[in-house]
Amino acid sequence: MWARNGVGLAVLMALASAGSINASLGSASGVAQSPRFGVGRAPTADEIRDLGSAIAPDGTGLPAGSGNVSQGRAVFAAHCARCHGRQGEGEIGARLVGGQGSLRSPRPLKTVGSFWPYATTLWDYVNRAMPFDKPGALQPDEVYAVSAFILNLNGIIGDDQVLNAVTLPKVQMPNRDGFVPDARPDVNGLKPRPQPTPVR
Ligand code: HEC
Repeated sequence: MWARNGVGLAVLMALASAGSINASLGSASGVAQSPRFGVGRAPTADEIRDLGSAIAPDGTGLPAGSGNVSQGRAVFAAHCARCHGRQGEGEIGARLVGGQGSLRSPRPLKTVGSFWPYATTLWDYVNRAMPFDKPGALQPDEVYAVSAFILNLNGIIGDDQVLNAVTLPKVQMPNRDGFVPDARPDVNGLKPRPQPTPVR
């Protein structure tokens, strides 16, 4: 399957360099995407939208819905604990809790709680990628709830906090200011900015 996709891609790229890609992609959906081998099909509008869904750090794109810590505890137990441990301590899946204050130590422990700069990224990542073996299975309410549970385990939000499209972007992550822009002149033409507050 993988190899066949690779071949299809190679064919598409060859077509692109030959200048004939527009003709083949412009054709109506339902026509094979790789005309020579007759495989693949044009993606539907829904499929393209799903692939492109991404929540911005400021929360743009977050859907309606909400969830709290205790609801999230149940979601986590049902869908996450078997890989991440009951309290997010990690098993075959990554450790999700702890490590705050360790980033400058000789043995930094990078978790959602210690390392990730935006709570909105947690929502987006879980929504798209978790559970690992069934990505996309959770409803928005469940993603809000399980995000609340993970943030609560990390001591970042209180027990009664409800997360939704308004409250989630306001959550202050401990390492929010721990990242520095890439100052190399050939990277996006960015100029070095003043150093942010050091990591705690
Ligand atoms: C079948 C096992 C499995 C299940 C179930 C699962 N995960 Fe994961 N999770 C993983 C693995 C493996 C990784 C590492 C993936 C990678 O690095 O590409 C991961 C990574 C993560 C990360 C990123 C951690 C980091 O710091 O990089 C988060 C957050 C996460 N999972 C949350 C969840 C949540 C929430 C659920 C339940 C809704 C869940 N996972 C269910 C296996 C699982």
